[in-house]
Amino acid sequence: MTLFASMFKLFAGLAVANGLVREGTVPVNPVATIPLDKQYVPVIRNNKIVSYKTAYFGKIHVGMPRQQTFTVVFDTGSAHLFVPSATCNTETCTRHRRFFRNESGTAVDIDHDGNPVKKNSTRRDQVNIAFGTGEVTGEFVRETVCLSPHEPSTEVAPLGSAGKDCTELRVILASEMTKEPFMTFEFDGVLGLGLASLAVDPEFSFFGQMAKMNGLKEQTFGYFLSRSDSVPSEISFGGHDARRLASPLQWVPVHKPELGYWQLRLLGVIVAGERLPLCEEGDCVAIADTGTSLLGAPRAVTQRMHWLLARKVPENPAEIDCRTFPGPELIFQLEDGVNVTIGAEDYSRATGMRVLNNKTNSSQLICRASLLPVDDGEVLGPKAFILGEPALRKYYTAYDWKRQRIGFGLSVQPKPEEVPAEPRHSIYGAPPSGPPTPTEVVV
Ligand SMILES: *[C@@H]1O[C@H](CO)[C@@H](O)[C@H](O)[C@H]1NC(C)=O
Ligand SMILES: *[C@@H]1O[C@H](CO)[C@@H](O)[C@H](O)[C@H]1NC(C)=O
Ligand SMILES: *[C@@H]1O[C@H](CO)[C@@H](O)[C@H](O)[C@H]1NC(C)=O
Ligand SMILES: *[C@@H]1O[C@H](CO)[C@@H](O)[C@H](O)[C@H]1NC(C)=O
Ligand SMILES: *[C@@H]1O[C@H](CO)[C@@H](O)[C@H](O)[C@H]1NC(C)=O
Repeated sequence: MTLFASMFKLFAGLAVANGLVREGTVPVNPVATIPLDKQYVPVIRNNKIVSYKTAYFGKIHVGMPRQQTFTVVFDTGSAHLFVPSATCNTETCTRHRRFFRNESGTAVDIDHDGNPVKKNSTRRDQVNIAFGTGEVTGEFVRETVCLSPHEPSTEVAPLGSAGKDCTELRVILASEMTKEPFMTFEFDGVLGLGLASLAVDPEFSFFGQMAKMNGLKEQTFGYFLSRSDSVPSEISFGGHDARRLASPLQWVPVHKPELGYWQLRLLGVIVAGERLPLCEEGDCVAIADTGTSLLGAPRAVTQRMHWLLARKVPENPAEIDCRTFPGPELIFQLEDGVNVTIGAEDYSRATGMRVLNNKTNSSQLICRASLLPVDDGEVLGPKAFILGEPALRKYYTAYDWKRQRIGFGLSVQPKPEEVPAEPRHSIYGAPPSGPPTPTEVVV
C-alpha cells in the first residue's frame, strides 16, 4: 500500500529466547530464510540531503525448470507479486531483470479469472496496480515461484516435488512501470504479503497459496530488521526465526482481517507521557507494514507528536547523530495488554536541525522525530498509524496467517563484532559514516 508513499528502512548465534515455548507450541524451523539487501535513496531538499528512504529486498526464483531470479520487496502492505516482463522495453524495465515468458516451462497465460487465455485470443486482460507514487500495468500468468534456487532438470517437475519452498500462484508480469519510483530502486518487483482479501483473487497471494498447497506446519512468516548494515535483515517463511528473538512473542489479533491489512486495534498512543486525545472511541488502528520506512501517524496529530518528541541538544555540537541522543518514549497500546514502545534511537531522524535566531544571533540544535503524515484514506479511516521500519526493527514480528494475528518480540540485534564470514547481502547507496551535519533554519 504505502510502499513508496513518501518513504524517504548475527547473528546472535545462540538461542537467547527463554520462555519461547508458549501455549504448548514447539517452534518449527522455517522452511526458508531469505537475507535482504538494503538500499538507501537520499531525500533532497534545497540541494541538501535531509534524510534517506530505505528499501529491503530479497531473491525469489520464478519458473521451471530453468529459474529466473528476481529481487523483490516483501511487502505486508500489498497483496500481489509483480515482476517486469521482457515485453516491457522502457528504461525503467530494462534497468531491472525481466521475465522471459518463453523460457519458462511452467508459465500459463491466464485472464484475471484464472482461466487460460484461449490460443486464438487476440486480447488479454490487464490490471493496473498503484504503489504509492507509482503504478504498474501488467498481464497475468500462473507460475511456480520458489524461495530458493533449484537445479534445472530435464523434465518439468510437478508442483511440490521441487520442495516445500515453491508454490504456484498468479503473477503479474509488468508491461509498464512508472519511472517514479521504480527507476531509482534496485529491486525488480514486489511480493505482497497482505491478507488474501487485499488481492484481486486469493490465488494471487503468495503466502496464502503456500499455506494452502505446501502443507506448512506453521502458517507463519517472520520479519527481522537489522540495525547493522554488515549483517542482513531477513524474512523467514513457514515459522519464525527463534535466534532473532530476545523476548517471547506476544500475540495481538488482526482487526478486521476482511480489509486485508495486517491491522491491529490501537487502544491508545502515549507520546512522552501524554496520551494523544484521539483513540477514546476505540477507532484507532495500527498497520504493520514492512514496505514503509517510517512511522506513520494521522496528519491531524503529527504536529503534536513532533512537538512532544523534539529535544534540545545542549552545547551546540557541530554535528550529531540524533539516533544516539536520548529522548522520550512513544508507546502504542495494542489489544491483549501488548505495548509497542519505541525509543529515540528508532524514531529519530539522524540529521539534527540547527535553529538560528537572527535577532539574538544565537543558535539551538534540535533532534526531531521522523514521522510520515498519513492522510484520510477511504479504507483505513482517519485514525490509522503505520508501524513501519522503526517499530519493526526494535521488534521481531511474526505474521500468523492461519490464526490472523501478529506476534511481537524484542529483536536480537547484531553485536558490533558479529560480521558474517561471507557476505550474504548487498547494501546500495549507504550514507557516509559518521554523524550527519545538521540542517539550518533561520527564525
Ligand atoms: C526468448 O525470447 C528472447 C527474445 O524475446 C530470446 O532472446 C531468447 O533466446 C528466447 N529464449 C528461448 C529459450 O527461446
Ligand atoms: C477460437 O477457438 C475456439 C475453439 O478452440 C472457437 O470456439 C472460437 O470461435 C475461436 N474464436 C475465434 C475468434 O476465432
Ligand atoms: C503499557 O503502557 C501503558 C502506558 O504507559 C501502561 O499504563 C501499561 O501498564 C503498559 N502495559 C504493559 C503491559 O506494560
Ligand atoms: C538577518 O538579519 C539581518 C539584519 O537584521 C538581515 O540583513 C538578514 O537578511 C537576516 N538574515 C536572514 C537569513 O533572515
Ligand atoms: C553572529 O555570530 C557569528 C558566530 O557565532 C559571528 O560570526 C557573527 O559576526 C555574529 N553576528 C552579529 C551581527 O553579531
